[in-house]
Amino acid sequence: MAGTFHPFGQFTPAFVDALAERLRGKSVLEVFAGNGTLAAELTRRGVDVVATTLFSGHDGHERGLRFPVVERDARAAVREFGRERDVLLMSWPTTTEAAAAAALEWGDERPIVFIGEVTRPELGLAGLGGCASDFFFEIAELQDEIAGYRGRGALDRAVVYRTNPESVARWRAGERAVAALRPGGAQAPGPA
Ligand SMILES: C[S@@+](CC[C@H](N)C(=O)[O-])C[C@H]1O[C@@H](n2cnc3c(N)ncnc32)[C@H](O)[C@@H]1O
Repeated sequence: MAGTFHPFGQFTPAFVDALAERLRGKSVLEVFAGNGTLAAELTRRGVDVVATTLFSGHDGHERGLRFPVVERDARAAVREFGRERDVLLMSWPTTTEAAAAAALEWGDERPIVFIGEVTRPELGLAGLGGCASDFFFEIAELQDEIAGYRGRGALDRAVVYRTNPESVARWRAGERAVAALRPGGAQAPGPA
């Protein structure tokens, strides 16, 4: 239908039910939330969500927000709202270092629920997902897959990551080529 906005994540009722089942009783910070479709669906199912995003032309926000979404860059949102939250949620973040910056800020003790194209280096070029940088997938360690997600393609998945402290330590020691995110680099994490 003309004018209908379709979220990037494939939020079927069955999938949102399964996700809500996992998240109920936990406090969630969503980054890259777009117009708040997923936050609205989870909240309706009893999940406590704070939703944040930077608004842009492709996220449908001009047609009305589905949920009160706070306009914040992902890392700034983690800094501002993350301390008291149990789970970091992101669906279809952008292919920049913003997701990695948010993950570094979030730390390695709490889970990150990631929905979108993942990168699977073992598949070569066919395994390059479009939803975060290579660096994000280097520091994100797969913990679990959320069953019932039917993505847009083989790489579009719903998974639980944790930031891997050893990968982060290697990067901090300068053994990683992503200069923009290295301490002192353009997007380096600032003091806590
Ligand atoms: C591809 S959309 C996905 C929206 C929604 N999660 C979905 O599944 O439909 C990405 C969203 O992240 C926003 N965004 C882009 N850069 C960002 C950043 N640095 N921090 C937070 N949000 C950002 C975009 O403007 C847009 O709202």
